[in-house]
Amino acid sequence: MNDLLPGEIEVWQFVESTARTLFGRFGYGEVRTPMVEDTALFVRSVGEETDIVGKEMYTFEDKGGRSLSLRPEGTAPAARAYIEHSVSNQEPVSRWFYMGPMFRYERMKTGRYRQFSQIGAEAYGAKEPAQDAELMDVVVQFLEALGLKDVTLNINSLGDDNCRPAYHAKLVEYLNAHREELCADCQQRLERNPLRVLDCKNEKCQAVAAAGPNVLEFLCAPCRAHFTDLQRKLGVLGIRYVVNHRLVRGLDYYTRTVFEFIASHPALGTASTVGGGGRYDKMMKGLGGPDVPAVGYAMGLDRLVLLLKEGGKTFTQRPDLFIAVADEGSQDEGLALASRLRREGLKVDFDTRGGSLKSQMKRADKSGARFTLVLGEQERTSGQAKLKPMAGGEPVPVALDNVAATVRAQPEAPAPVPAA
Ligand code: HAM
Repeated sequence: MNDLLPGEIEVWQFVESTARTLFGRFGYGEVRTPMVEDTALFVRSVGEETDIVGKEMYTFEDKGGRSLSLRPEGTAPAARAYIEHSVSNQEPVSRWFYMGPMFRYERMKTGRYRQFSQIGAEAYGAKEPAQDAELMDVVVQFLEALGLKDVTLNINSLGDDNCRPAYHAKLVEYLNAHREELCADCQQRLERNPLRVLDCKNEKCQAVAAAGPNVLEFLCAPCRAHFTDLQRKLGVLGIRYVVNHRLVRGLDYYTRTVFEFIASHPALGTASTVGGGGRYDKMMKGLGGPDVPAVGYAMGLDRLVLLLKEGGKTFTQRPDLFIAVADEGSQDEGLALASRLRREGLKVDFDTRGGSLKSQMKRADKSGARFTLVLGEQERTSGQAKLKPMAGGEPVPVALDNVAATVRAQPEAPAPVPAA
């Protein structure tokens, strides 16, 4: 679990505000659900045999003897809220997004944490492939807005209750015949959750999986039509994708479409999946809710941030102005001037400790401010001061009652390099 401090938080805020803008354009409204839920919610949706529920949940008993869990993901809590508030009675289609911390007791490595943040979206009420495609479009536009390239969309279909059992049986038969070639974990998965063998990172397991039965060859006609139409729609939207018949997901609730966005950047190592999702048309009913189809996805905010940091862009907003005071008698006026300029919309830094002008100028350098204004007795009596451009150049004369407008009128110079 990580602390986020000023200096780092700005890149998070950039990702979050970009997400809000994009979701807003696509008509998604924000939902916030509690961080704890009944454990049974996740067992019944994500699935008891998944790693997430079987091994990774933070589960505890509360004082009333109820089993609660810190949410390991956002889809089930959103579905619970959708059912609890009878949203399907109020509108046929709902589009929601959320962002916030999730918890999984995973083995820590770069891009994999025990508290991590997701930005997710869920669309309820539309079973059509156009909805799957539209959801992928939000992600594509979101990644574009962040300036992230080299992310590949992988898609697959896992079929439905009608066609998946035949595939499942064939897969188990095949994997059993190759049992000895699988890693110890996969030999266990074979018993409990054979689909998960397909995305084991072990090379031997990957080789076995690659030569195994292809789920797409087992799709029934309606599932095949859905998948074909989805690909056509992605074509209409100009979204590039790869069909990956070995793409399965770590959660049990999916039917038909599943997809993942995978980054090729080495910074993420094996944690290269920046987001994933799929259709879960049976989950609502399975949770005792209405028979409403749904499709959604979630992106890992921590991983997006790692990628953006690799890009070397800075996200901290530097102050417009640093106010330094030349003598103790100007301290109050400096404080008041800073307050007034902030009210007028400038980002102003001011050293509340006072101290020598030299130490304040050092602080001004370090702050990265565009300009410094020194306030002393002479400036106070004349009402005139100078804006010193910190990147170098001629000072700009300024009337003390016109500082904000003068700062705004100055052309942007490159940011000064802050002193070490
Ligand atoms: P997920 O694939 O389990 O799907 O998680 C989505 C994303 O969350 C991952 O692609 C990854 O970027 C990030 N993530 C997961 N675990 C960690 C971790 N331990 N540390 C850092 N990042 C992590 C879901 O959670 C589904 N609820 C997605 C969904 C929404 N399906 C339908 N609707």
